[in-house]
Parts: sequence; structure tokens; C-alpha cells
Amino acid sequence: MVSETSVRPGPRGQAIIARDEAIMSSSMQPRYPFVMERGLGARVWDVDGNEYIDFAAGIAVTATGHSHPKVVAAITEQASKFLHIAGTDYYYDIQVRLAEKLAAIAPFNDEARVFLCNSGAESVEGAVKLARWYTGRQNVIAFYGAFHGRTMGALSLTASKVVQRQGFGAMVPGVHHVPFNNPYRCMHGREESACRAHCICADFIEDVLFKRTVAPDSVAAIILEPIQGGRLRRAGCPLCPAIA
Ligand SMILES: Cc1ncc(COP(=O)(O)O)c(C=O)c1O
Repeated sequence: MVSETSVRPGPRGQAIIARDEAIMSSSMQPRYPFVMERGLGARVWDVDGNEYIDFAAGIAVTATGHSHPKVVAAITEQASKFLHIAGTDYYYDIQVRLAEKLAAIAPFNDEARVFLCNSGAESVEGAVKLARWYTGRQNVIAFYGAFHGRTMGALSLTASKVVQRQGFGAMVPGVHHVPFNNPYRCMHGREESACRAHCICADFIEDVLFKRTVAPDSVAAIILEPIQGGRLRRAGCPLCPAIA
């Protein structure tokens, strides 16, 4: 058992961060100086024995908390049977069972089909490919402030921070960004009550985009996060410099 340190991160954490900075790609953005050792539910401990409450939950993906006994048991059981057999090339029961469960809770009325993939960016890539293929259309509408991932297609939809796109050349064509409606931090600088009464972001698609640059029947998909993780603040509005 490591005892808590007054300086955070403590010496063990500082040593790992120094090694990380020497060996990991310099494209990794500066991170929070927390060096995790273990977690249990919503509690986490760093390598120096300091305890924290985890409000991040693996950026909202560890919904059952850390090391939930049922999750650990399921992973252990599966690992003892086999680790990997490409689901794109072969069949296996657990893939079908997961797909059936996901289809049963899919939030739409049509019969659901399931495509499993490895990451958020890959799922975004797959969604855009599917929408383009199915509709035969090219254009996709995304929102300022959005973060959809770092692969070229997902990055083309991302409009969170310039540094994420800077230096990577031309993006995938056919992506059109529009203002994101966020009454609490309206990017046009409007008061929350005015924004809730009449959202001019929603109007932007019909009154500006569809009238000036993009034919409505050329749009394959609109992609948005219900809550933006990397949203713009008022001062960052690219459309309203006078308000900034
Ligand atoms: C909303 C959203 N979409 C996509 C991604 C990309 O996911 P991944 O890093 O698994 O590719 C993220 C990652 O933070 C995200 O927050």
C-alpha cells in the first residue's frame, strides 16, 4: 500500500509522466497530471496512493464504474476461452448476442442492424459512409464546437479546436459546419431566454446554408452530439466577430 503524498502527482507519478513525455508521440496533447493505478466504482487511486473521485469515467465510457465485479467476471471468462477471432471474417455467438441486445434498445422504430467497431472515430466514419452509400448523396452537416474524432473523415466533421486540424491538409469534402444550439452558452452571444424562445442556430440551416451553398436534397446526414464535450464559448464564435 502506497501512502498518500502531499505533492500531486507524487514521485512515482512524476517519474511515469517524464517517461511518457520521452517516449509517447508528441502529438499527444498535454494531459491532466493524474497517473492511475487502480479504481473501484467511482473511486480511483494514483500510483502514489492518492485517492480521488472519478467524475470523468473514462470520458463517459465506464458507465458501470471501475472494475465492476460482473464486468471483470465477464472479461475474465471470455479471455479464458479465446481472445480474438475477427468478426469481419468469422462468426461467434457472443457477437450475435451483443448485437441482439443493442438492436433491442435501438432508439428508433425500424428494424435495427448492428455494426460493431473499435472506437468512436471508427463509428463516425462508418456512419458517414453508410449515410452516403444509402442516400447516394455527398454532403454532411456538422456543428461548430463538435468533436467527432481524429481520423481524416471524423476530423473533417470535428470543429472543436484549430490545433486538431492544423497541418493535416485538405479535409474530406462535402462537410458543412453550422452553429450549434446551446442556450446556456449561445455562440451568437444571445441571452438564454431569447435563445430558448427562438433558436437562430436552427434557422441557420434553412435560411442560410440551404439558400446559399448546399441544396437540401444533396445532404446525406446531419451529425451532432446531444451535449458537446469541446464546445465553443461566446468569444470563439467564428460567425459573429462583432459579438466576440
Ligand atoms: C463525441 C465523440 N465522438 C467521437 C470521439 C472519438 O472517439 P475515439 O477516441 O474512441 O476514436 C470522441 C472522443 O472523445 C467523442 O467524445
